Amino acid sequence: MTNVKSDTSRAVKIIDGVWWVGVNDHINPLFEGMWALPDGMSYNAYLVKGEHKTALIELSRNGFAEPFIKKVEEIIPLAEIDYIIHNHLEPDHSGIIPLIYKQCPEAQVLATAKGKNFLEQFYGEGERVTAIKDGDSIDLGGRTLRFLNYPWLHWPDTMFTYLEEDKVLFPCDAFGGFGALDEGLFADERDLDVYWPEAKRYLGTIVASYLGHVVKAIDKWVKGGMGINVLCPSHGPVYRNNPMSIISRYQEWAKNEKGDKVVMIVGSMWGSTHEMGAIVKHRLEHNGLEVKYFDAATAEPGQVLGEMLNAGGVVFGAPTYDANIYPRLEYFLMLFRSKKKNGLPMATFNQNSWKVNITPKINSYLEDMKAQIIPPQVVGHGSPDEAVKNELELLADNLTASMKDVCFVPMG
Ligand code: FEO
Repeated sequence: MTNVKSDTSRAVKIIDGVWWVGVNDHINPLFEGMWALPDGMSYNAYLVKGEHKTALIELSRNGFAEPFIKKVEEIIPLAEIDYIIHNHLEPDHSGIIPLIYKQCPEAQVLATAKGKNFLEQFYGEGERVTAIKDGDSIDLGGRTLRFLNYPWLHWPDTMFTYLEEDKVLFPCDAFGGFGALDEGLFADERDLDVYWPEAKRYLGTIVASYLGHVVKAIDKWVKGGMGINVLCPSHGPVYRNNPMSIISRYQEWAKNEKGDKVVMIVGSMWGSTHEMGAIVKHRLEHNGLEVKYFDAATAEPGQVLGEMLNAGGVVFGAPTYDANIYPRLEYFLMLFRSKKKNGLPMATFNQNSWKVNITPKINSYLEDMKAQIIPPQVVGHGSPDEAVKNELELLADNLTASMKDVCFVPMG
């Protein structure tokens, strides 16, 4: 291995006949219109050349056609591409289809049957697609690309593409992460201790609703007995030395096992709800639990969801706002419901200075999530007095007991 890092402003050779031709995005501040991109984003695409044919796996997001085409044409004129392969059709990998298809009139387009439907729906190009089935393959001349269906990772049309002879896996969005690749394409060029939280935040947001499918997919792959020498996800670094470094982390994170960690999300207009939150946090920590405390007004939702991957309990705290739930807290309730954060012990406290109790409105979300609602659901009236303080400590003790699943006796 060389000490010179790969230059992702150009096409990067991965192994003989396989190149990365993706792009770095430092323009868009959000992914999916929701998740912050403080270090940008990569949309990875790959060229695979056999003795007779060349395949392009994935395209790019709308607005990035120029750097994308430039990289492809460092290797081969776009018009000479034989196959365009869509592992799934989300627009971060397909947005430039109208432009690319025009410039590759002879290329055969391959996607799953569901992918074919999306191509018609999004781009009116369904006719151009050959729908492939699980296990189908194409021969590029001495190199075989095999297609394996992995639906719901994270779209219904998802498949993996596998270069059999070299054991190179292109697993679509699985094993991806946030961040551009300016520091180098390969995982062994990066400080992975800095990168892993961004991979975890990606899993907790983009794939969060389908974690069970991730676990099943890894099992399916392992049972299939096909090795992986190089792992080329659609976002984030390429793993040319140790693909298991990310796969084993995904296995651990996707299990979503409950740990001794509480995620607290607390909003406050003038501070008194945070005073209540501080009492709960202090008591939970006193009870031996780890607490991740987020201010609902400023927290990046992806960070909260990343921490939720192995949380054992949740606390929501909010003031009343216009006789409703403080909207910045309600957003997290909606998000957790959407991401199926189901079956956890959940505790609440809120303010009703205007004599409107929002607890029933909060509970409608918790009931949708089949939460174990922890008593007492504390209602305050400004800064907590001694009675409210005692209730908040009881709430913390009851949550601790539910997480430890034993009869919990608080210390002191
Ligand atoms: Fe990277 Fe699901 O698109």
